Amino acid sequence: MSKSDVEQSSDSEGNDATAATKPTLWQRFKAHMKKWWWVYLIAFIVIVLVTVLPIIYVGIPHFANKYINDYDYDYTGLVISNPRPTAFHVKQKKLMNMGGGFSGSGHLSAFNASIRVPDTDEEFAVFPVPQIDFNGGATLDIDQDLDLSCVDCLADIAVKAATNKSFAVLATGHPDLKLGALPTAHLNIHKTLDMNGYNVTEFVNENGAFNVTSLDLLDPPVNGYNFNATISVRNPTPFSVEMGHVTFNLTMGGDELGYVDLPNLKLEENISDNIVLGNVDKSKLIQEALLGDGTGATVTIGVRGHSCDYNGQDIPYFSAAIRAVSANATIDLLNYASSLLG
Ligand SMILES: *[C@@H]1O[C@H](CO)[C@@H](O)[C@H](O)[C@H]1NC(C)=O
Ligand SMILES: *[C@@H]1O[C@H](CO)[C@@H](O)[C@H](O)[C@H]1NC(C)=O
Ligand SMILES: *[C@@H]1O[C@H](CO)[C@@H](O)[C@H](O)[C@H]1NC(C)=O
Ligand SMILES: *[C@@H]1O[C@H](CO)[C@@H](O)[C@H](O)[C@H]1NC(C)=O
Ligand SMILES: *[C@@H]1O[C@H](CO)[C@@H](O)[C@H](O)[C@H]1NC(C)=O
Ligand SMILES: *[C@@H]1O[C@H](CO)[C@@H](O)[C@H](O)[C@H]1NC(C)=O
Ligand SMILES: *[C@@H]1O[C@H](CO)[C@@H](O)[C@H](O)[C@H]1NC(C)=O
Ligand SMILES: *[C@@H]1O[C@H](CO)[C@@H](O)[C@H](O)[C@H]1NC(C)=O
Repeated sequence: MSKSDVEQSSDSEGNDATAATKPTLWQRFKAHMKKWWWVYLIAFIVIVLVTVLPIIYVGIPHFANKYINDYDYDYTGLVISNPRPTAFHVKQKKLMNMGGGFSGSGHLSAFNASIRVPDTDEEFAVFPVPQIDFNGGATLDIDQDLDLSCVDCLADIAVKAATNKSFAVLATGHPDLKLGALPTAHLNIHKTLDMNGYNVTEFVNENGAFNVTSLDLLDPPVNGYNFNATISVRNPTPFSVEMGHVTFNLTMGGDELGYVDLPNLKLEENISDNIVLGNVDKSKLIQEALLGDGTGATVTIGVRGHSCDYNGQDIPYFSAAIRAVSANATIDLLNYASSLLG
């Protein structure tokens, strides 16, 4: 989501009794607040982190770099963890440069930001924004749960985000703003953010998104798994996301080949290694390699997202995103011949 993808389609801000006092500072401040940085922040956390990130975890470094660099806010170090069916944890401590020629001290009071689907006006999340103190810059210290009140709404958005459809969210909230000696201003945030989704299928099929770095056959099978592998996954974003137990179905030439489990998928900064346990039809695999198109032992395996759960509970908003993943992985079995034949 570059800045141009975010259209401001409805703005309104309230200020009580403050405009007359120090117009210059107030005007400057209003101009600054027009950047709506906290609304972007909230919308980003809710929509992008929860829906888009899990989807784009394999690949698209260029896309994501642009996506992030075009943003004013620096998300380095943001951690999404402990996903539950109706909540997850967000943590980040960050110094922010306010920019925009704004200086002075004050604070934006803590407030509950409500995130809605504009058409239905259904609230699906409340993000408790902590008090933010300014002093030239600001320190944002977030370490709290984000509760989801309409998981289906978020799952719908996840699917739209994953299939290149446009969607919108409405953020509302009523924080108080205290700036220097000025009287407290009561803000009325009411903002619709229009965003475009992205074609996940295209993204996950880019080269270099993930590599199989080790592969061991389990013979006899362990807990129904007949292989154990490690994959290295590129995280194109500067934050980390704990997704939990993720399952993919595998196909070959349109037929079922088996499945893989990633018992604890975590996307850390840059590249992270994740354990994969799986069960595949070995004879089909070897047959395909031998009878293939004559280019060595290369096989193409279809990878379809199936589910995501954490502590045994389905995480519907991640599942929806995972189910949008469809990729073809090309693997040269000769690279793993020693473990396959050993
Ligand atoms: C946010 O909502 C919760 C739950 O309704 C409430 O306990 C809390 O005081 C609210 N926070 C603010 C800053 O209004
Ligand atoms: C996604 O949708 C936008 C606007 O509808 C379109 O311009 C773009 O080409 C689409 N991208 C893909 C990959 O289909
Ligand atoms: C996404 O990209 C794939 C592969 O390029 C294409 O087959 C599919 O139609 C695209 N989906 C959408 C919704 O644009
Ligand atoms: C799979 O491999 C990893 C790393 O080599 C190891 O820690 C783990 O115990 C293995 N799991 C099974 C079920 O063999
Ligand atoms: C996968 O391997 C290619 C080629 O060695 C490399 O360029 C790429 O960075 C690797 N990707 C990951 C996620 O390790
Ligand atoms: C994945 O496999 C499961 C179990 O075999 C099956 O129920 C499900 O329909 C499959 N999903 C997809 C998307 O192929
Ligand atoms: C990730 O990559 C960036 C840019 O290459 C580097 O500055 C940073 O230290 C890396 N982080 C980790 C944890 O390796
Ligand atoms: C994967 O390969 C199959 C068969 O080769 C093809 O039909 C399908 O469109 C490919 N999927 C993607 C996402 O490239």
